[in-house]
Amino acid sequence: MPITILIGAQWGDEGKGRVVDWLAASADIVARYAGGDNAGHTVALDGEVYKLHLIPSGILHSNVVSVMGNGMVINPISLVREIDALRKLGVQITPDRLVISSRAHIITPAHIALDRARESALGESKIGTTLRGIGPAYLDKTGRAGIRTGDMLLDVEEFAERLVAAIESSNEDLYAQGLESLDAREAAQNYLDAADFLRPYIRDVSIYLYEALKAGKKVVCEGAQGTLLDIDHGSYPFVTSSSPTAGGALTGLGVGPLFVERVLGVAKAFSTRVGGGPMPTELDGPVAGHFRGSGANFWDEFGTTTGRPRRCGWLDVVMLRYAVGVNGLSELMLTKMDILSGLDELKLATAYEIDGERFEYPPVTNAQLERARPIYETLPGWGVDINSCRHFSDLPAAARNYIRRVAELCDVPIDIVSVGPERDQLVINHAQ
Ligand code: IMP
Repeated sequence: MPITILIGAQWGDEGKGRVVDWLAASADIVARYAGGDNAGHTVALDGEVYKLHLIPSGILHSNVVSVMGNGMVINPISLVREIDALRKLGVQITPDRLVISSRAHIITPAHIALDRARESALGESKIGTTLRGIGPAYLDKTGRAGIRTGDMLLDVEEFAERLVAAIESSNEDLYAQGLESLDAREAAQNYLDAADFLRPYIRDVSIYLYEALKAGKKVVCEGAQGTLLDIDHGSYPFVTSSSPTAGGALTGLGVGPLFVERVLGVAKAFSTRVGGGPMPTELDGPVAGHFRGSGANFWDEFGTTTGRPRRCGWLDVVMLRYAVGVNGLSELMLTKMDILSGLDELKLATAYEIDGERFEYPPVTNAQLERARPIYETLPGWGVDINSCRHFSDLPAAARNYIRRVAELCDVPIDIVSVGPERDQLVINHAQ
């Protein structure tokens, strides 16, 4: 049963890229199953910083095949650009190393225009999307009006016709909103060049994975975004339009559950969120500034894709407990533990108080969530730098205590934490 599913246990940006990079060292295949270029995975390696939006982080390991699943929505122009950028950094990308599902959906320029139009029409209540056309592309998918990567395998004329028809149909929506429509033929032309380039990479991913799994290959499923942004399980409508949770890995790749042996959640040691929507532990004072950083370092809390400053707050154990349940996590990993260093005391939101009632899990409605008052437990902080710790016993007692308490409150083992952005800056509990 050689599948490990890696899940973001918060609102995205948990540091999944670096965890996948670490897991990839002992994997054969890394497969991404949801989202598009709204994601931003950063991996630091030998002084170089790799920013990936579409291609799985496994691509940085020469032993690994990277797979892009049917659950994704792909902007072919962004993908070609990302392949070019990685090649310039010396990463080898060939159809032996990158496999793209023929059933993923294509983001068109009209989807991007519609994303912008919808966000601006929402005004104050906007979702705060990444404006990459993600929502409109998934809307066309479920509305059975989308075009798929497999259509790029068609004869060029036929693909062009489908693309033009799809853009013209979206043009009607743009027109209805009083916005300028797109020149469908001109927009389609760029896509034809990208299709030419991508054609050799496209195949049936489900069967590819099935055969690989039967042959005993190890597969890591790389989640994008996070549990609390899931279209079903997040704080709807302030969510993305895909399923970043464990179930999404199965449908987004077309693999069966009996191959899964491990569901690993990744959470930051504090909370961050970008875009709108409730965030009960959000702070706006010096502690938030401590978490966010100045923006001078790539690991500071500013969006990899949009550059927006992230909202920051104490670790929300209520949300984390929920993520453990929704995904059936077998273990949890905490990232950015080093950022907690230097704070006198640390707080964990262990429950919410809403209208006089105590909640151990998030309430159903956003209206209740907006009224939630976190019930905090305060733990001692630590002053020393922990960047060079590599074993649990190297960590200060207060840091070990913090990890132990989160594990206890979420009822899940935590045996790995990260203490810096580099590949080797991991602390592993070898006692387990
Ligand atoms: P969309 O996915 O661009 O439609 O954005 C919907 C919501 O998900 C917005 O609040 C975004 O900020 C958020 N979001 C989408 N992708 C990411 C991500 O990779 N990290 C963090 N938030 C994200």
